[in-house]
Amino acid sequence: MKRHHVLVAMPVFAEVLAQLGEHFEVDAPCGIRDTVEWTPETLTARLQGCAGMLVAGTPRVDAALLAACPDLRAVCSMAVGYNNIDLAACTARGVLVSNAPDVLTETTADFGFALMMAAARRITESERFLRAGRWTHWSYDLFAGADVHGATLGVLGMGRIGSAIARRGALGFGMPVIYHNRSRLSSEAEQQLGARWVDKDELLRCSDHLVIVVPYSAASHHLVGAAELALMKPGATLTNIARGGVVDDAALAVALREHRLFAAGLDVFEGEPALNPDLLDLPNVVLTPHIASASLPTRRAMADLAASNLIAALGRGPAAGKPPTALNPQVLSGA
Ligand code: DGY
Repeated sequence: MKRHHVLVAMPVFAEVLAQLGEHFEVDAPCGIRDTVEWTPETLTARLQGCAGMLVAGTPRVDAALLAACPDLRAVCSMAVGYNNIDLAACTARGVLVSNAPDVLTETTADFGFALMMAAARRITESERFLRAGRWTHWSYDLFAGADVHGATLGVLGMGRIGSAIARRGALGFGMPVIYHNRSRLSSEAEQQLGARWVDKDELLRCSDHLVIVVPYSAASHHLVGAAELALMKPGATLTNIARGGVVDDAALAVALREHRLFAAGLDVFEGEPALNPDLLDLPNVVLTPHIASASLPTRRAMADLAASNLIAALGRGPAAGKPPTALNPQVLSGA
């Protein structure tokens, strides 16, 4: 049987590369540590003759790339968010796309909650102060922050990760939970989570701690911008673990500087890995480099799932023809 060529366009676990090697001729220029700057040109050149590709949240896979890589039949991502992949263009060309949902839900929710708490309780700001040798005396208001327990948790985007955050807030911290999502949960699911649906303005007005978990799309670009930030309480925090671009980072920096918002926790940024330099100067923002799903067991599960999808999409392994988390399975069934 002909062995397909596949490109692994991200650093990945050695065990995952070995697993792919059982089925394919594997080109893994990033190895397990290094990274490659994937311009459209380098990616196109490297993909010639490849039937499949493993990616993460980058690089971009669009109609132009697909047209230039006619052998490509499967693009499998180890991220749950797939805004770097033009799903409609892939479907039109019969290219299977998969993402990696579920396996990262709890780890990402842990991190979202931690980031929200770090912003509310001024953890990194106070650590910087201490490391700089500036702690000379006790004072009742030294780094006094905002309470998390009992405060109102607002969740923008009540999917799997949003629900896991809501559960942590309601069960662990006694927080009343409000949420906004395009589609409302069933009343049974709302009851189980202890969450109440509100419209977006009410969510912004009433949340003490707003956590954003919506997927990025043209429709969610700057979903939270200057006008939305103006609705929030001055004592509130905002945490973004969704995607850069969902929040207008420049408007957020202004709101934080003017103390129209207490603090923010950001794991994702517009144009990352570059960030808006205004954010770097602000004490009241906790910044992390897109690591919400980064525990080793979870990253391994994400990579394993992406590899299983690729193997199955290219007709190999026990699930041949049935990639477990395909986004457009119809391209394989010919429907
Ligand atoms: C995801 O899986 O979408 C995370 O943000 C990592 O990219």
